[in-house]
Amino acid sequence: MSPLRNRVAVLHGVNLDMLGRRDPAHYGTLTLAELEQRAIEFGRELELEVQCFHTNSEAAFVEHLHGLPTSADGIVLNPGAWTHYSWAIHDALEIAALPAVEVHLSKIDEREDWRQVSVVRDLVLACVSGQGVEGYREALVRLSKELDG
Ligand code: DQA
Repeated sequence: MSPLRNRVAVLHGVNLDMLGRRDPAHYGTLTLAELEQRAIEFGRELELEVQCFHTNSEAAFVEHLHGLPTSADGIVLNPGAWTHYSWAIHDALEIAALPAVEVHLSKIDEREDWRQVSVVRDLVLACVSGQGVEGYREALVRLSKELDG
């Protein structure tokens, strides 16, 4: 039997701690703490152990990714605006070498041109965007299938 792989790191990047103060038309009304709680509950339904992390520091985000191979089996990440330009996060995600799913609360494909670019897209199994908090459930389901397989 293959060893249990059920530890998922849910990572939030820059400005996502401002949820609740950001445009509700794009981001809804939940705070980050509430969103993380929902992600933990979605994980529990899928028998996944969700660990949440947030930082506004790109260096701290990169260093967290460096450490993940010893504490997680998969990653759900919403890097916020870093998604669109941080090649440092791209490279750190590549180094982590764990199955990953990208999530965005808003429909990034229907917003400004610069938001339609994701520098991590070539590294992720899937991108879920525009579904608000429910997108985290979809991302965890996708990851769970990968970890079970
Ligand atoms: C976001 C979309 C990004 O363009 C934006 O910079 C964010 C949040 C989202 O969840 O929709 O901060 O990643």
